[in-house]
Amino acid sequence: CMVRHYKFNVVLKNTTRLCSSKPIVTINGKYPGPTISAREDDTVLVKVVNHVKYNVSIHWHGIRQLRTGWADGPAYITQCPIQPGHQYVYNFTITGQRGTLWWHAHILWLRATVHGALVILPKRSVPYPFPTPHKEEVLVLGEWWKSDVEAVINEALKSGLAPNVSDAHTINGHPGPVSSCPSQGGFTFSVNPGKTYMLRVVNAALNEELFFKIAGHQLTVVEVDAVYTKPFKTNTIVIAPGQTTNVLVTAGRRAGRYMVAASPFMDAPILVDNVTATATLHYSGTLGSTPATLTSLPPKNATSIANNYTNSLRSLNSNTYPAKVPLKVVHSLLFTVGLGVNPCSTCVNGSRVVADINNVTFVMPTISLLQAHFFNISGVFTDDFPGNPPIAYNYTGTQPTNLQTTKGTRLYRLAYNSTVQVVLQDTGMITTENHPLHLHGFNFFEVGRGIGNFNPKKDPKKFNLIDPVERNTAGVPSGGWTAIRFRADNPGVWFMHCHLEVHTTWGLKMAFVVDNGKGPNETLLPPPSDLPKC
Ligand code: C2O
Repeated sequence: CMVRHYKFNVVLKNTTRLCSSKPIVTINGKYPGPTISAREDDTVLVKVVNHVKYNVSIHWHGIRQLRTGWADGPAYITQCPIQPGHQYVYNFTITGQRGTLWWHAHILWLRATVHGALVILPKRSVPYPFPTPHKEEVLVLGEWWKSDVEAVINEALKSGLAPNVSDAHTINGHPGPVSSCPSQGGFTFSVNPGKTYMLRVVNAALNEELFFKIAGHQLTVVEVDAVYTKPFKTNTIVIAPGQTTNVLVTAGRRAGRYMVAASPFMDAPILVDNVTATATLHYSGTLGSTPATLTSLPPKNATSIANNYTNSLRSLNSNTYPAKVPLKVVHSLLFTVGLGVNPCSTCVNGSRVVADINNVTFVMPTISLLQAHFFNISGVFTDDFPGNPPIAYNYTGTQPTNLQTTKGTRLYRLAYNSTVQVVLQDTGMITTENHPLHLHGFNFFEVGRGIGNFNPKKDPKKFNLIDPVERNTAGVPSGGWTAIRFRADNPGVWFMHCHLEVHTTWGLKMAFVVDNGKGPNETLLPPPSDLPKC
């Protein structure tokens, strides 16, 4: 194995999209940012130098960070942010993972433009468990705002209302021609007829789950969140912010150009950015002026397409890549996730929208939780996060009389190596909505999923403990629940939150603190000397 060195300069870059220009925060002037490539077992060193006026931190989304929580990246959770003019070297080893992950800023809404792919190839001479593709291509899906993204969220926080939706979606940084700017081109990738390609699709959008489709081509899903799946054919994939999906696509024999498209999946009756992003699949030997074969995507409320897709995903669970599902659980938790309303005297309606897990709206600390844990600093957090909902919940969309949440920086404590089950239940306090929940530091198995209230007597009997999909971000279906299981084999403090950035901002987040184990390889390593200070 190797040590891979990267340098990330955080710089402003004037960028034109939708026929207008604005300075955006980037890594090395690129949007999307540079792809990190490594192999399983490699060590990755990324020196991040902050040249902008914002505090910055970078998260390596999906990397386990075994014993190296100091390199995980969420600001005020595992580190203080890198202040303007300062730098920090993220140093981590990729252990037992291969596939597509990604990296993104993990502070405020900077990840709108500060993100990129992280490609982990298998160990040298270890093949994929499917025919080797002729070529691979990374496709990062994103969202673009014409106005300054930090201003969008700051205004919303002041008013207590929902922030403006984005003005376009992007594929590798480009919306493609849209009615507000028909002249702009989109991303194009070239293929040779008869060859098979692997697309590494990342959803880096801030707030929108997406449908993704290629005109005239079937997609074979072979991996999600850097875990191999049973190959499965589909016309459309659904991908939530935070998730990654590898698909194989075989080019036919005939020349041509085909539309590649992404548009939102959102079944709540709330505003979304409805602009479809397009790119082009170009067969070599086809004239550039040949019109592309078009495709149409499912409507934004196509819940059954989304659920059918998600319910079809399975771990590969082969001899080489077994699914190690915990069969018994030590901690059995039920977390309600949803939105609430809290009083706010300075807000437009005298109230503000908040979000919570088990009625706790998470309050960000002012020094990092991991430091507080490691150095035993009291008064930063409590470890009394409720393991069950303190108030009755429902999923019907009928509002309970009390929408108010409590506030706190409360963590849930897990003994090293204990097994954990969390049932995540959407509550429909304001409206039912999908919530892609992301857990740092672990992969989990999605053992069950259903619509309505979770039934603790009946539903566990139907859990898939053989080959459930293993991932790091799971969509809690709107008005329903999902059950996840994992083994707490990584000491440290691990954030769990909705990957719709607006919900995270509103407080749909919590953290687990995992104690050290007894063996020498079961303890959190000490912090690196350049760990940023608050
Ligand atoms: Cu991809 Cu806590 O984030």
